[in-house]
Amino acid sequence: MKDKLQQLKKSAMADLEKAKNAEALQDFEVNYFGRKGKYTFLVKELPKLSTENKKNIGRLANEIKTEIQEAIKTRQVELQSERLGNFAKEEWIDRTLPGEKPRVGHLHITSQAIEEIVSIFTRLGFVRRKYPEIEWDWYAFEALNMPASHPARDEWETFFIDLPVGKKGKIVLTPHTSSGQVREMESGKLPIRMMNISKTYRRQSDVSHTPVFHQFEGLFIDKDVSIANLKGVLDYFAKSFFGEGRRTRLRPFHFRFTEPSFEIDVSCDVCGGIGKLEDGLKCRLCKEGWLELGGAGMIHPNVLKAGGIDPKIYNGFAFGWGVERTFMMKEGMKIDDIRLLYKNDLRFLKQF
Ligand code: PHE
Repeated sequence: MKDKLQQLKKSAMADLEKAKNAEALQDFEVNYFGRKGKYTFLVKELPKLSTENKKNIGRLANEIKTEIQEAIKTRQVELQSERLGNFAKEEWIDRTLPGEKPRVGHLHITSQAIEEIVSIFTRLGFVRRKYPEIEWDWYAFEALNMPASHPARDEWETFFIDLPVGKKGKIVLTPHTSSGQVREMESGKLPIRMMNISKTYRRQSDVSHTPVFHQFEGLFIDKDVSIANLKGVLDYFAKSFFGEGRRTRLRPFHFRFTEPSFEIDVSCDVCGGIGKLEDGLKCRLCKEGWLELGGAGMIHPNVLKAGGIDPKIYNGFAFGWGVERTFMMKEGMKIDDIRLLYKNDLRFLKQF
């Protein structure tokens, strides 16, 4: 029994040396001291010995157990310091390798377009304003020379809000930025060079309309303002935004709040304003050389009056266009569905 114990100690010490990590150490403990372990097996013999032997050999067995357990602890410390020693080697990183760049987003194209539009008109002395998107009927229609039930209102496909009618009429989601005109006049400061950019709302959705879109509106009021001034501002914008080669034209139109009124066209960049391609075929984009930008005109005297301005002393012009539409007419854009702008598809948005 004594020999067997000594033998066990020897083989235990050798096995310990072979344990190369914490897992192996655990296995070792089970192997010797577990329920079916070698040591456990051996000491089961003790009761069979004589009283004298039981005492001596029992003590020896205890001593050996303590020794082995001490050795396990020492081995544990050894293994740990070995691991720490290897740490530098195992966890080594090459700091000269190129890193992974975090993805950086950018402004949405509508925001980009707004920034660019504002910077162009700022150079001409226009100041950006913000007016309510949820507006009284008065500012959206009535003050703009469109009395209740006038058929011209139909064009604006308005969302009316189901709330009690107030002194200034119903509440609407503003269908155009022209609602800021009379609000600006009410500020009482003259002359006026205003740029109002905001969300606008209409009951429309197809390849060239979204129910929510953006418009930018210019309002210019001073003494002796002429159509030539309007044309000058529009040309400056077209050349700055679309490129030197682009031209604008005024086409007679009708709005209740301007007189005379125009629609503004910009020359097409695909065919260069001719309407035909080199092979003689019609230009697919514009068909006639021009793309429609939006409305403009000289402010109607009734609108000036509604804003508290004397039309005998002051006059001016206004223009209002869709931001998304204008952006889509930029050189090389070729976006054939305006709704793509708001689908939040990164594959599309990342390209700009
Ligand atoms: N508000 C008009 C529209 O939405 C555009 C416009 C603005 C026309 C200013 C003339 C003057 O269609």
